[in-house]
Amino acid sequence: MTLIDQFGRTIQYLRISVTDRCNFRCRYCMPLEGLPWLPKSDILSYEEIAEVVRQLAPLGLRRVRLTGGEPTIRPQVSRLVAMLRAVPQVEDIALSTNGVKLPGLASELAAAGLDRVNISADSLRADRIVAIARRDLGFDPVQAAMAAESAGLDPIKLNVVVMRGTNDDEVVDFARLTLEHPWHVRFIELMPVGEMETLTDEHVVPSDEVLSRISTALGRLEASGGPARGNGPAAYWRLAGARGTIGVITPMTHTYCGSCNRVRLTADGRLRTCLFGDHEVDLRTPLRSGIPLEPFVRQAMAEKPQAHALLSRRNGGLRALSQVGG
Ligand code: 5AD
Ligand code: SF4
Repeated sequence: MTLIDQFGRTIQYLRISVTDRCNFRCRYCMPLEGLPWLPKSDILSYEEIAEVVRQLAPLGLRRVRLTGGEPTIRPQVSRLVAMLRAVPQVEDIALSTNGVKLPGLASELAAAGLDRVNISADSLRADRIVAIARRDLGFDPVQAAMAAESAGLDPIKLNVVVMRGTNDDEVVDFARLTLEHPWHVRFIELMPVGEMETLTDEHVVPSDEVLSRISTALGRLEASGGPARGNGPAAYWRLAGARGTIGVITPMTHTYCGSCNRVRLTADGRLRTCLFGDHEVDLRTPLRSGIPLEPFVRQAMAEKPQAHALLSRRNGGLRALSQVGG
């Protein structure tokens, strides 16, 4: 039995937000003062999250990703990884993190059964990282990726949100990392969501421009299949002789909703079938009353929209990605 929505897309992939809180305040994601955090009692326990996954597994769920907010700031997140690893149908467990805690946590996470990691890395320069994340936590993206690599996590992806006038002059430096390291560096077009006081459409750098800057500086890019695991919306390229790949994620210039294979579980137990818009079904209430989740999941799938409204609605009223498990 599989979950297929009304547009023929099968859902095998669930992104799970384990907390809406974060130790960073990235300019494109959250206001400096933070957001109105969910009260603890509204947040699903690890046992409850694992129960959702156990109930979705027979419906076709095969891959999960832990996100936030910042998943590693929730205590003992490796305990959740181990609980999900114990679900037989789950083939792949990934983590999206800002990387701050990876040097201390990577081996514990790998031992608990984590397969792979995506690290947000918007700059390679210490002063800029602080200016973008607005917290000085001594984050070093290269060190975080090396910690993940030595723990055996594979593949390792670095996600760079490109902002004109802020870090767009570093795209070549990021691309150069793939010559030496077997990492997948992915450039993401800035999305006008949340409360980005100072970032507007003018700061969006189309991915075509990123790719042409890289090939001008470093030589021809060949189309590449990308990492074996994960089949999200990125398109991949490779520099001659490189160990890693270069990917682009283009929410602003090309939509990929037609092949969207994902649903999201918010920290407070709502199933969201699209990152944008208000398509949410509450799973926490039935879960806490011991009622089977399948009918609620099927209802959510029937309502999964064909495409997001990001381009038509522009800035107004969208929740920050930290609130919806970006
Ligand atoms: N635009 C693009 N990507 C975003 N992310 C969060 N907010 C935005 C935004 N406004 C993504 C980035 C970041 C991850 C945590 O979420 O990939 O690295
Ligand atoms: Fe935190 Fe990620 Fe949002 Fe930055 S983008 S504030 S690291 S949740």
